[in-house]
Amino acid sequence: MIIAVDGPAASGKGTLAAGLARHYRLPHLDTGLLYRAVGLAVAGHVDTPQFEAAAIAAARALDATQLKDIDALTAAETGVLASKVAVIGPVRQALFDYQRAFATQPGGAVLDGRDTGTRIAPDADAKLFIQADSKARMERRARQLEARGLVVDRYALYHQIEERDARDMANPNGGFYRAADAHLLDTTLLDIEAALRAAIAIVDRAV
Ligand code: C5P
Repeated sequence: MIIAVDGPAASGKGTLAAGLARHYRLPHLDTGLLYRAVGLAVAGHVDTPQFEAAAIAAARALDATQLKDIDALTAAETGVLASKVAVIGPVRQALFDYQRAFATQPGGAVLDGRDTGTRIAPDADAKLFIQADSKARMERRARQLEARGLVVDRYALYHQIEERDARDMANPNGGFYRAADAHLLDTTLLDIEAALRAAIAIVDRAV
């Protein structure tokens, strides 16, 4: 069974994908981490002419099984860097094979990201497209960061999320749209447990 979970920044897709993976006892891949790792590797080249070539080289050299320093990877600034490398076609190509192999491993998998239901696993058995109001998404992300002891500037975070969504939706190489057969789940008014129950109900109906 392949489950694809897509949606915008901080929509809750990662938490839901992890919950689905636990429920169905499947391995889970957060595909955003791959773009984040590439973004972090080329942070020093932002706004230079070398940025694109460095990002392509970093994507080709990435060992996706060895992602370290999760705190740096999940930082809000790294998300912005990730969205900058994610518009580069050869970066996406370089990351494709690992994601496709993960999706099609025997026994199945859960993947979350932007294009898992459209590009990585268009053949997924169940597809969810998670959305939530942008203020709600900002507030959730703020609380996650605060729970880690970080001081959060909500105004800046809101704009970072909006900037990232705008870049992702305009990404000509991105495949970031709701697949025709993806089930829409709006989590604005749902807590984690309620959202997970709804997601499980959708998957149970789909398979
Ligand atoms: O999901 P997350 O917020 O960690 O993703 C970080 C960035 O990586 C996204 O804003 C997007 O630009 C990029 N991404 C992507 N395709 C994916 C997953 C992430 O383009 N499947």
